[in-house]
Amino acid sequence: MAEIAVIGAGYVGLTTGACLSQLGHDVTVADIDLPRIEALQRGKIPFVEPELSEIVNTGIKSKKLKFVVGAKNACESAEFHFVCLPTPANNDGSTNLSFFKSGIEEISEVLQPNSILITKSTVPVGTAASLKAQLQRNDISVVSNPEFLAEGNAVNDFLYPSRIVIGAETAEEAQRVAGLYSKINAPVITTGWESAELIKHTANAFLAMKLTFINEIATLCERTDADIQDVAMGIGYDPRIGASYLNPGPGWGGSCFPKDSSSLAFIAREAGFNFTLLEHTIDLNRKHVERTAMKVLEMLPQEIHNQKIAAWGLTFKAGTDDLRSSPAIDVLHHLVAEENRICAYDPTVTQQIAQIPEVHVETDPYICAENADVLVILTEWEEFNEVDMARISEIMKSPNLVDTRNLFNREQMEKLGFTYLGMGV
Ligand code: UGA
Repeated sequence: MAEIAVIGAGYVGLTTGACLSQLGHDVTVADIDLPRIEALQRGKIPFVEPELSEIVNTGIKSKKLKFVVGAKNACESAEFHFVCLPTPANNDGSTNLSFFKSGIEEISEVLQPNSILITKSTVPVGTAASLKAQLQRNDISVVSNPEFLAEGNAVNDFLYPSRIVIGAETAEEAQRVAGLYSKINAPVITTGWESAELIKHTANAFLAMKLTFINEIATLCERTDADIQDVAMGIGYDPRIGASYLNPGPGWGGSCFPKDSSSLAFIAREAGFNFTLLEHTIDLNRKHVERTAMKVLEMLPQEIHNQKIAAWGLTFKAGTDDLRSSPAIDVLHHLVAEENRICAYDPTVTQQIAQIPEVHVETDPYICAENADVLVILTEWEEFNEVDMARISEIMKSPNLVDTRNLFNREQMEKLGFTYLGMGV
């Protein structure tokens, strides 16, 4: 079993470290955030992620998983160093590599000869090559091993992946990294650095494009009396298309799709190629969010001002407490601009949120919906199915329902007295 350092205890770093310890490796996860590390040492994880708490605590008990402050302390004796530092977007869409590069600078002197630096964070194509140059150490290898972890399913995605991508300079380096995953049953795709880096961006941009496509078809369904759920099923059985990522929504978001799509478009522009399809995908998603907000506004009786809008769901999808680039919040921004009173409920958000302070956050779905002129469902939380919708229909001022996730059945909702608008249904 290998000695591994993981630099960065965010979503990617923590999941990577905990799962590698689960596979039997000796893992030390480092971060600069002292309170975060102290909480992790006590087995407390800083965000909502199913199963992660259990495997972190198993790792701590078996002494296979440790948490330290400062990357140097983790890397000094390790053979493999997973770099899981944030790579946020700059305003022009390019990737800000400053955290990433300063992390590498910090550890470069303490790395053991013959150890391997592995980039796990999503980085632009060309990063591994420039890292190798930055390191100025011929005795250290650099390998790209992108993550494909979806929040809310990250542990499962790590331990049962669809594939493992390893980009390396030599077959021997690739094999050493592949060895870390020997207990995992998945195809290993070995490539050069650049292809591995591009695979990650391409996967996210492709999925974003697929979602924009289905959101556009949902709009067409609304104008032609077709049903998007039937259309999605009818195309999803075609293995060339595939059934996943065909659920329409308020628009795609999160900490990865928007950032990675913009980064890939920027990379293309820099390479002298105008990636029109991707640029339009990004633009159409913005328009789709606006269209979703318009649906809600159109449900409000026109003559009354200062109406109450109730919104269920604030996170960018169900199963997480992550509000980063949440389409739910983007939709609410449009609604706030129209001077309505907005009340929101989300199972993982219990306090006012800085991203949109005008929205009053309630911790109870019934209080949130009371006296509302319209209720909009923005995230596909299963918890919403547990709510007594008959009661909701009674306590709302006007039982108008905009279901941007098609969580409820139109006929059932209409029976309860709602005026119902879904997405493409
Ligand atoms: C995404 C990818 O799915 C992961 O493979 C990748 O590793 C990760 O980014 C990353 O780069 O780190 P994540 O951001 O957690 O994972 O989100 P997804 O579950 O893919 O959802 C992205 C957006 O698409 C959300 O807003 C979601 O609501 C929306 N979506 C997804 C739909 O509207 N409909 C669908 O059918 C699926």
